Amino acid sequence: MHVITVCVGSACHLKGSHEIINYFKDAIKDAGLENKVELKGTFCMDQCTDGANLLIDETLFHATSVDDVRAIFQTEILEKI
Ligand code: FES
Repeated sequence: MHVITVCVGSACHLKGSHEIINYFKDAIKDAGLENKVELKGTFCMDQCTDGANLLIDETLFHATSVDDVRAIFQTEILEKI
């Protein structure tokens, strides 16, 4: 089981975390990975200046667009499952 944790604190919300969560929801469903990938939200991770922040398992990523998270999902989830 992989865990994607998206920051929903105010700074990350302003930088698109809501769209990022929606992208991951759709991507997990489209790939049929509901039983292999858990999507969670978290409050501020004290990295506010670095963009919308998310963890894939224990690794921190910064995203500035849905294109960024599409690439992260490809390399960190699809290519590792
Ligand atoms: S609000 Fe996301 S790291 Fe602070």
